Amino acid sequence: MKKIILTHRYHDEAIERLHREFQLVIAADEGPDLPAVMRRHADAEGLISFLSDPVDAAAIRAMKKLKIIANFAVGYNNIDVECALEKNILVTHTPDVLTGATADLAMALILSVSRRLVEGDALVRAGRFTGWQAGLLLGKELNGAILGIVGMGRIGLATALRARACGMKALYYSRSAKPALERKYGFARVTFLELLRSADVVSLHLPYSPGVHHLFNRDAFALMKKDAIFINTARGPLMDEEALAAALEKNELFGAGLDVYEDEPAVNEKLKGLKNAVLLPHLGSATGKTRRAMAMMTVLSVRQALAGKRPRHLIPEWKEKLRDKSK
Ligand code: DGY
Repeated sequence: MKKIILTHRYHDEAIERLHREFQLVIAADEGPDLPAVMRRHADAEGLISFLSDPVDAAAIRAMKKLKIIANFAVGYNNIDVECALEKNILVTHTPDVLTGATADLAMALILSVSRRLVEGDALVRAGRFTGWQAGLLLGKELNGAILGIVGMGRIGLATALRARACGMKALYYSRSAKPALERKYGFARVTFLELLRSADVVSLHLPYSPGVHHLFNRDAFALMKKDAIFINTARGPLMDEEALAAALEKNELFGAGLDVYEDEPAVNEKLKGLKNAVLLPHLGSATGKTRRAMAMMTVLSVRQALAGKRPRHLIPEWKEKLRDKSK
């Protein structure tokens, strides 16, 4: 039986299948030092990693028989993709199955921040609800507001469509134009600057790469409308948390809803002290149905790769490599 490493326990059914088909090592059961477990099982041919596991060049190079890294997430910035490509190690991720769940969460954050839901909940629990008041916790109306989607991929689109149901109009900033979406839904493509200046809610849906590190910095927050809302369900290092905390503290933004952080699980202490920030513990894909589908997708990817087939859910860089080869 071929040996594979799963870094942490996940869906039981997926683990059962992996046990049936492979010699399965669950790294977390062998101790907290993942690189040490990887070194101990350097003969593993497959690795199923979580987005919180750094799979760097040293780890990739140490596993001499490795054929596939199946990331249990759609984002894969935890993996040294360049090294994996160089070593001809397949890399897969879990697109599509988490689109709806993540877009739901982005929408939930937009609603929570705009209507101050967390502040209202805290007020009731603290026994400070003394009766209906005309000016209590006034929020921002979404109907007619402009949503700026940064990164119009699958999740960006699903978020824009949810926001549409609340009467919002969407603009987007994306590397490539989406004429079909523009025609079908009237979403307008704008420059990053235009988006910052005109959106009432900015929602981030870009994958992380060093080229977009701190895309949302002090200057970007300063260009946003004074009563705008900033939402990040993508990746923490796309934003400068310190700059965001400063903008929120000075009420230069209405509020922010975050599901991801620069240095997870650490969260900027200033953000934790701000009432106009809603902070979630990276729950984007966290529904039972979605997490099961993601887990089963990793099983399928490993099965396909170790049977010598091309896995269906290769990351775009791998697809590009195969396209170039076939030219
Ligand atoms: C992913 O899969 O990349 C998401 O961040 C999970 O919530």
